[in-house]
Amino acid sequence: MNKPTWGIIATWRMAFDGIAAASQQLQCEVNAEAAVVQAIKMVEDYPFYKSVGFGGLPNEKGIVELDAAFMHGTTMAIGAVASVRDIANPILLAQRLSQERFNSFMVGEGAIEWAIANGFEQKNMLTERAKQHYAKKYRETISQGLSPYSGHDTVGIAAVDLQGDICVGTSTSGLFMKRPGRVGDSPVSGSGYYADSDIGAATATGLGEDLMKGCISYEIVRRMGEGMSPQQAAQSTVNDLEARLLKRYGRAGDLSVVCISKDGEFGAATNIENFSFSVATAAHEPAIYVCTCDNGETTYERASQEWLDAYQARITAPIV
Ligand code: GLY
Repeated sequence: MNKPTWGIIATWRMAFDGIAAASQQLQCEVNAEAAVVQAIKMVEDYPFYKSVGFGGLPNEKGIVELDAAFMHGTTMAIGAVASVRDIANPILLAQRLSQERFNSFMVGEGAIEWAIANGFEQKNMLTERAKQHYAKKYRETISQGLSPYSGHDTVGIAAVDLQGDICVGTSTSGLFMKRPGRVGDSPVSGSGYYADSDIGAATATGLGEDLMKGCISYEIVRRMGEGMSPQQAAQSTVNDLEARLLKRYGRAGDLSVVCISKDGEFGAATNIENFSFSVATAAHEPAIYVCTCDNGETTYERASQEWLDAYQARITAPIV
């Protein structure tokens, strides 16, 4: 049997503070479930991350609709919500639903009613800043008959704990300017996330409509189970899905993934520039990496101070 280890990995720089906090907890035997949920909650609560939780960008009617999911890779329990409005922390709702034998994936009004009845915090999730983003996007796209859809950043976090449990969670406001009721990959098992404590876990970010066509997270975990390293599994799955989409569907959206094995090894792959991820393991201090994608090969390096400063300036800059 392998020596117990711990590790946690997340899509994007936005999860770094949560990853750093979780790394302290995981080494003190806090479980992967708590680590994942707390780290995602931190992202949901931060108003300047415009694709998750409070401050997330609204749909085409100016309403913030949130999706989230949680999976426990030992019990295979899954909880998920989609199109929920004005609930402060969708990840807490998803985690709670993962404890239900039935009705564990809920959407829209039913999910909201259940959340309120069960005491989940209600909050207006539409910030002034998100309204300004909406007005700008409307001016620059819809009012001119252009498509408003562009890149999107979901937070997905996977963790391995010292007890050998592996968990994964996601949270997102989904595609900016989506149609009311549109749901992407993030709450969909196998697409936005998957975890199996005998193997590892994976989670995705990018265009949900395309990520779902390849059940990308399940496929990465399956390939790890067949013996691929996390990096090989992530890269080959992204490349194969992109190639199939281009060949059969004629186009491919943004596909970015991170994954971690039960041994705490991790991988990341993308078909875009500037995908970042945050990671910490027993063998690796908390760090942010920025990916480069070249000819089907993802490489990554530590984010420079310049990159980090530019990121912070960008997410807090006035919207003009
Ligand atoms: N990947 C998030 C979404 O498409 O909604």
